[in-house]
Amino acid sequence: MTDLDSIVDGATHSFAQAQTPAELENAKALYTGKSGRITELMKGMAALSVEDKKSRGAAINLAKQAIETALNQRREALADQELQAQLKAEALDVSLPGRLRAPGGLHPVSLTMERIEQIFASMGFDVADGPEIETDWHSFTSLNNPPNHPARSMQDTFYVDMKGDDGIAYNLRPHTSPMQVRYAHQHVTKYAEGVKKGKPMPEIRVIAPGRTYRVDSDATHSPMFHQCEGLWLGENISFKDLKVVFTGFCRTFFESDDLALRFRPSFFPFTEPSAEIDIQFQSGPLAGRWLEVAGSGQVHPQVVRNMGLDPEKYIGFAFGMGPDRLTMLRYGVSDLRLFFDGDVRFLSQFQ
Ligand code: DAH
Repeated sequence: MTDLDSIVDGATHSFAQAQTPAELENAKALYTGKSGRITELMKGMAALSVEDKKSRGAAINLAKQAIETALNQRREALADQELQAQLKAEALDVSLPGRLRAPGGLHPVSLTMERIEQIFASMGFDVADGPEIETDWHSFTSLNNPPNHPARSMQDTFYVDMKGDDGIAYNLRPHTSPMQVRYAHQHVTKYAEGVKKGKPMPEIRVIAPGRTYRVDSDATHSPMFHQCEGLWLGENISFKDLKVVFTGFCRTFFESDDLALRFRPSFFPFTEPSAEIDIQFQSGPLAGRWLEVAGSGQVHPQVVRNMGLDPEKYIGFAFGMGPDRLTMLRYGVSDLRLFFDGDVRFLSQFQ
């Protein structure tokens, strides 16, 4: 074996030893690098005769080509090895069944809210949304419930550590009634131009569903609960309309004509007269039972004034009902708190 053959052999061997591209490049440097074996041999040729240079040069070139061929082969082998390793590491078994993602569904109270909105929309009511962090004025004073009025204690509430323009802390609204004044105000502002030009303002007919907050917790009360306010104000809207609208709503909501409604006298600062509305089931598991579903009444003249309207001209009714309560009744749920525990086993029954 010539010295060149053994150099080629040595190179091939050390390339085969290299396990990574970096190791391979290091091995290569020992042969064809700046001071590699082949490069050194080339330098050594300077001392040779012209004849010898030719033959020796050709032989060295052959050896160099052989080394480069071996190098390229090893480069490809290493790249291939790397690819195989990567494919193995990222192996994907396409025969595995996919992970099942159960379809979600609406919360039972949301189902009730949607139902309420649809029924009232079909009767020509607008659906409005309002803030849960309210001013003292909207939650109480504008509803004829001034500071220090004893009726305030019935709705003892949560306060926010931030004061409004009136210097009184904001509250988490204890009912949706503030939406009566908010919405009416917007309505009056919106149609003010037309009214000036002699066009009558359209009636106010709205519901305002949403979250409300009170310091309460038992089977039929939770500190966060839902209400849906209703307001119909015009020039000739009476208690009779309240009865027709509310009875119609309940019959559609409970899908039963077999319901009796009772308007029981009550007190609210923002209505006069006021009534609580009970419904009685005539048949089924709840037959004979009266259940309170809402507070209601004829809007108090002072509240109409606070809306920016003339109580001599505008008259109407309002009500506030409990969608959580309606959901309990509709599905026969005995504890309100179940709605807010987030237990999928309970919630999935409503899908
Ligand atoms: N806001 C009252 C409550 O939370 C319910 C209520 C009563 C609303 C009479 C009304 C109403 O609009 O007219 O207890």
